[in-house]
This record gives sequence, C-alpha cells and structure tokens, in this order.
Amino acid sequence: MVDIKEIVCNEKLFINEAEYYSNKYQIPINSAPSENCYIDLNFENYLVFNEERISNCFHKDPFLKRVKNFQREIMIKKAISYEVNKPKKILDATAGFGRDGFIFALLGQEVTMVDENKGMCIMIESALNRLPDKPYYNDAKSRIKVVNSDSTKLKLNSEGFDIIYLDPMFSTYSKSMSKKELTFLKTYIDQKHDLVNIFLNQNYKRLVVKREKKYQPHAFEEASIIYKGKSINFHVFI
Ligand SMILES: C[S@@+](CC[C@H](N)C(=O)[O-])C[C@H]1O[C@@H](n2cnc3c(N)ncnc32)[C@H](O)[C@@H]1O
Repeated sequence: MVDIKEIVCNEKLFINEAEYYSNKYQIPINSAPSENCYIDLNFENYLVFNEERISNCFHKDPFLKRVKNFQREIMIKKAISYEVNKPKKILDATAGFGRDGFIFALLGQEVTMVDENKGMCIMIESALNRLPDKPYYNDAKSRIKVVNSDSTKLKLNSEGFDIIYLDPMFSTYSKSMSKKELTFLKTYIDQKHDLVNIFLNQNYKRLVVKREKKYQPHAFEEASIIYKGKSINFHVFI
C-alpha cells in the first residue's frame, strides 16, 4: 500500500502537532521533503503524492456547504436511522478525508473513524485541529476518535457499534469529493479487497454502504433497504 513516508513541517507553530503525529503514526519529521509522498503541515494541511497536493479542510468551501447544512443530510439521516437526542455509536470503517464521519459527528453521533492509511488519518486529525474554536465544532470534535487500522481486523463486537458505515472508492465524483480529489485518491489509495463482502460476513446491527447510482449489486448483496438519492444511494443491511 502507498502511504506517506514523512511529515514536513517548517512552521514553529505546528511543530508540537507534527510531533504528536510523528509519535502516534511512527513517521519521521523533516524540514524538507526527501520523498514524493508526505504530509506538509502548515496553516493548511496537504497530502503530497506524485507532485499533486490535496488539502482537507472541514470549515472551508466546498465542504463548508455540507457542514452548514448538515441538518439537511436527509439521506444520511435515514441511512443511520437518525433519532434526535439518541446518539448512535458509528464505526466509519473507510474514513478517507473524514467528511461523512464529520457530518455524523455534527449530527450528534459518536464516531470512530478508521482508515488503514496513515496519510488519510493525519489529514482528518489535522483538519479537526484547524477548525475554528467554536462550540459547534468543538462538540463535534469531542465525539470523534481517529484510528489507523485495517477496519476488517478490528474486534467489532467488543466495541458494540450501532452502525458500520462503508464508503468504498467510487469511479465517479460526487458532491462530497471533487474530480481532482477522486483522481488523486485513485492513484494514492489501492483498494485491494471487497470490504462490503467481508463486513457482510461479520456480526453487525446495521451496515450502511454508500454506493454510486450505477452500482450493480452482486447476488449476495441484497440490501434490506435502499435509500435513493440524486447521485448516490445508501444500501442498508439489517
Ligand atoms: C472513498 S474513501 C472514503 C471517503 C470518506 N467517506 C469521506 O467522506 O471522506 C475510502 C477510504 O477507505 C480506506 N480503506 C480502504 N480499505 C480499508 C480498510 N480495510 N480499512 C480501513 N480503511 C480502508 C482508504 O484508505 C480510503 O481512504
């Protein structure tokens, strides 16, 4: 699997943050890049791979639009069977940039974001660390845990998640991921196994899979409910 090799940080203000990631993810900090796959930590966060740079920011456009309108995420709410003041424990097993997971947290859910890629985990944590100091954001942040692991190897039963959420890589871009980001991810992330099949064979209370509209399910993937949106569907297994 491709993953970042170093954290590049030249700005004193962010050295403590860089050291935290360096310890947590066992990645060296350098002042200049020696490899072509690294996190550049500054006032903005960048994941750099093959000369391409991608930033991840929860409080700026284009994602800000979703953040401001999180209560209008009707499809996601239906998919997780959202109930006001009854937070659920969600395992976001393909956390990526953490955008769907952040919407869950804004909706008051307890979210464990898991990604097997260290670069993606740091992009989530550094996006959270760059949020303005406002109760709205701080509350959501307090409900998020970021874990670097292959989610298929986690011991799910012991943590008792109400929802397992999967967003396997798409071939078309959507409102939550731009064309540039999707192209970047497709070269950077190598999605090797069929996660949905693996999770369907484990214990779960409710498994939610985000699918592009044109997706044709295999015979073994008969969802209990499908919530149909304009560009994506949520397949729910109960
Ligand atoms: C399409 S992205 C998810 C985007 C995310 N829903 C968002 O809103 O930002 C898919 C992510 O799943 C991760 N992934 C794939 N297989 C995984 C596994 N077995 N365990 C953990 N993460 C995995 C990839 O590293 C990638 O970051």
